[in-house]
Amino acid sequence: MEKQRGNFSGRLGFIMAAAGSAVGLGNIWRFPYLAAQYGGGIFLLVYLVLAVTFGFALMTAEISIGRKTGLSAVEAFRKLDKKWGFVGYLSALVPVIILPYYSVIGGWVTKYFWVFASGEGIAAASSDYFGGFVSQIGQPIGWFLAFIGITAVIVWFGVEKGVERVSKILMPILVILSMFIAAYALTMDGAMDGLKYYIIPNFSHFSVKTVLAAMGQLFYSMSLAMGIMITYGSYMRKDNSIESSVRHIEIFDTGIAFLAGLMIIPSIFAVGDPEQLLEKGASLMFEVLPQLFLAMPAGQFVGAAFFIMVFFAALTSSISLMETVVSIFMDKFHWNRKLSCIAVFAIIILLGIPSSLGNGVWSGIKIIGMDFLSFFDFISNSVIMPIVALLTCIFVGYVLKTSAIEHEVEVSGHSFKARGLFRIVIKYFAPICIVLILITSVLDAFGIFKL
Ligand code: PHE
Repeated sequence: MEKQRGNFSGRLGFIMAAAGSAVGLGNIWRFPYLAAQYGGGIFLLVYLVLAVTFGFALMTAEISIGRKTGLSAVEAFRKLDKKWGFVGYLSALVPVIILPYYSVIGGWVTKYFWVFASGEGIAAASSDYFGGFVSQIGQPIGWFLAFIGITAVIVWFGVEKGVERVSKILMPILVILSMFIAAYALTMDGAMDGLKYYIIPNFSHFSVKTVLAAMGQLFYSMSLAMGIMITYGSYMRKDNSIESSVRHIEIFDTGIAFLAGLMIIPSIFAVGDPEQLLEKGASLMFEVLPQLFLAMPAGQFVGAAFFIMVFFAALTSSISLMETVVSIFMDKFHWNRKLSCIAVFAIIILLGIPSSLGNGVWSGIKIIGMDFLSFFDFISNSVIMPIVALLTCIFVGYVLKTSAIEHEVEVSGHSFKARGLFRIVIKYFAPICIVLILITSVLDAFGIFKL
């Protein structure tokens, strides 16, 4: 018997919910440091090209699969074709890997909010503050537990709606505040060099790694290749346009990532040493922004306001990640919600603690040359998600056939404007690119072949 599924109340409700899941640390924390690391303008260009091709086609496919079947990923693939059920399982693995380290970063954000709110933001601006913080044992684990604890309580009581309401108010404020911070950063000495680095593509910085990083980031940021958009699609009403919803989510998500880069990358050139900071990686936001806040009037307040909004953006995403994992457990093991919550919570803690300790006492432990956090990030974004995306393309392009998706997009008389693009991307462009990139990157990670 088919379960009765709830519906989003119309198109705006769907877009807001999907955007709430999509917009998070991926946009604000991850995008800027990758753009800084992988050549600035060229990364941005590759990202944008991938967003309007890969991103568009995959999101359309996933939402359509969800709405067509009315099921979540694991069941949806199985229903469409028995043999392809494993893709659903594979995609279900991604949120399990991402959520623990996502919560570690969420903990850092919570800590930074606390530091600014309690008037100690000046301390956070010193260059060794972040390193001193993350290399400890108790502090970062404590903030990680606080963050995942808040997430778990919300999922346990099923009160996501309240959080969504708060974040709907805060997200537009975050956008305005980010514009203000970016504008301020651009008035500082040296910032223009940063702006140029960020928006003017320099083709000598291009490499296969740029494409891999941009692709992984695209999946991560738009919550693709992990079954989430399938689940969201299953709640979408038939009379809403999939194509225009996808366009809206895409613009929203990419816009916020772009803005975060605009805030952080010019600041690198204004407040610090670009040589050193561009390569920072995961710590970039936490090292650069406090220095910028310190330089601006009322920076203490701006810093606290900024981090609390990032906290809410991260929280809506971590809730949607945890919800997904909990519902997988409920479906798979037929456990009730509470038991599934406890099991998921235990797994997150088990995987999250090494990710936190990897910045300090366990920094000597390396898996294929990476600390725990980088390894989990790599294995999900650069390996499993591209594989899921590839399999989704093959499944949609050659087993299910693109016409099935096109049909779903056209339900209720909507026309599918980008049909040609959709077909080419799903059948040829995406699979070929993904295969090439996947092979080179895995060989590279294992040191068999140097990019
Ligand atoms: N897309 C979110 C971000 O950019 C991360 C996320 C992935 C959230 C998957 C939910 C599900 O931060």
